[in-house]
Amino acid sequence: MSVARAEADGGRDSWSEAESAVLAEAVHCAPSVHNTRPWELAIHGRTAELRERTVLAAQHDPEGRDRRISLGAALANLVLAIRGLGWAAEAATRLAGDLVTATATGTHRSRPADAENRRRRALTDRRSHRHAFDRRELPEGTRDVLLEALAAPGVTGRWIAGADEALAVARLLDYAARVFRGDAEYQRELALWITPRGRGVRPEAFGTGGLAAVGLTTSRTRLPDESLLAARIQREAVLVVATSADTPQDHVRAGAAMEQAWLEAASRNLAASVMTQPLHLEEVRTGLAQHLGLTAVPQVLMRFGLPVEAEVGDR
Ligand SMILES: Cc1cc2nc3c(=O)[nH]c(=O)nc-3n(C[C@H](O)[C@H](O)[C@H](O)COP(=O)(O)O)c2cc1C
Repeated sequence: MSVARAEADGGRDSWSEAESAVLAEAVHCAPSVHNTRPWELAIHGRTAELRERTVLAAQHDPEGRDRRISLGAALANLVLAIRGLGWAAEAATRLAGDLVTATATGTHRSRPADAENRRRRALTDRRSHRHAFDRRELPEGTRDVLLEALAAPGVTGRWIAGADEALAVARLLDYAARVFRGDAEYQRELALWITPRGRGVRPEAFGTGGLAAVGLTTSRTRLPDESLLAARIQREAVLVVATSADTPQDHVRAGAAMEQAWLEAASRNLAASVMTQPLHLEEVRTGLAQHLGLTAVPQVLMRFGLPVEAEVGDR
């Protein structure tokens, strides 16, 4: 650090306690698989480091894909928080053994852009909406805005469009939901993650029917018939987030891009939920890529919509 810059910060070359608290809060708000927050946050100087942390009872994520996507979402939040503190942020990832460490460093003073401010302000409002959306269409141009928010090197977004694609996706999700519903070990573990507070998914956060419910299937989930599910997919805005390769770093990139789009949606009072559980089955990933003509690897499915009118004030 240059002497001039250190002086501008009162001689300090590290995040203050208050700034560190802002960074920690932003990370805490990030979405994560089963709300496990599979990372450790450490702050040194002007660098905040997120270390991937394995969790017990994680058969739902045998390859750690979701852990790293979650880490990517936390990294996106960290970068937005650093921007909010008025610093440029440099993000990097490295592999230590099998585990990813992601860092975000404040490099020099820099004012955040409007989009960054908007998304940062939405950090605490963003949440998973696993219920039906309002029947109204998304406002004109929203799909393009969300794709733009998602855009990052190596990451692409693809909207599911038309009846044929919707039916193909419905079939794959229905197949995955039946596999997970019939998997006693998966169900036993999921039950452990359903808790009213702390880490884990709150019981009332589950959807009872429709597309979002299919993405986290308990033994009590009502599976809609394929054509009903296809109609729901066609009516909702469903986005596939895909990456050009399938390395641990690609999973982190997918998570960061997903979070940018999710926060952009939240900043526009849109509701959203994500699902990756069906994509843990390789046949679902390859089936999806084939039906959509994707050369990239599907990592996350996102659904966006308008919350039902009465819910807007409830948030
Ligand atoms: C990598 C990742 C995978 C997820 N997979 C699913 C999923 O398959 N189905 C689902 O309903 N929610 C899924 N979620 C949403 C999480 O359960 C949710 O973010 C977490 O419980 C915290 O709740 P919140 O999003 O309301 O803050 C996933 C989230 C992440 C980051």
